[in-house]
Amino acid sequence: MAEISGTAKLPPSGDKHGEASERLWVIFVTAVMVLLVAVVVFTSVHFGFHPPSQVETIDSTSLHKSGEFSEANLGTVIAPDGSALVRVVAQQYAFVPNCIIVPAGKPVTIRLASADVVHGFIVQGTNVNAMVVPGYITTLHTTFQEPGERLMPCHEFCGIGHQTMWAHVRVVEPSSFPTDADKQKAVTCAP
Ligand code: CUA
Repeated sequence: MAEISGTAKLPPSGDKHGEASERLWVIFVTAVMVLLVAVVVFTSVHFGFHPPSQVETIDSTSLHKSGEFSEANLGTVIAPDGSALVRVVAQQYAFVPNCIIVPAGKPVTIRLASADVVHGFIVQGTNVNAMVVPGYITTLHTTFQEPGERLMPCHEFCGIGHQTMWAHVRVVEPSSFPTDADKQKAVTCAP
């Protein structure tokens, strides 16, 4: 009588080689995760990179009609303590105002809202860099140390005219700041 053959041979239990390589992979993956977290912590502390921490919503379709981002409010307002608040609208294909004036060496808060699609902005030579998403207000806090002129291009592709969308940031000594800002009227350096 023929024996029934072909029974699968199970691997011996406690495969030492498999366990060792699995342990190596666990150690490797854990080390990669620890490294990534360390990089996030290092960059946020050392370079001042911070993810957006508060969510403020706004109706992008009626930005210009009333409220914080109505035309008269766009530009820079100086608080009694010398700090500046800047409001800007990003729209296809311009920032309004297209020349932003800020005092050197003073805390500056920048608030942007989009009137249409996703835009972004970066201020040349600084770590000011954020997206402007319709429906939300982007708020950034910074200080511009050196007087001078900096470019602020849009860095999110926003349509056919994306490459023409940019503004100037003019950093001036607080003493030479236009006086209207002290009277709570927003000023710009736009022509
Ligand atoms: Cu706005 Cu690109």
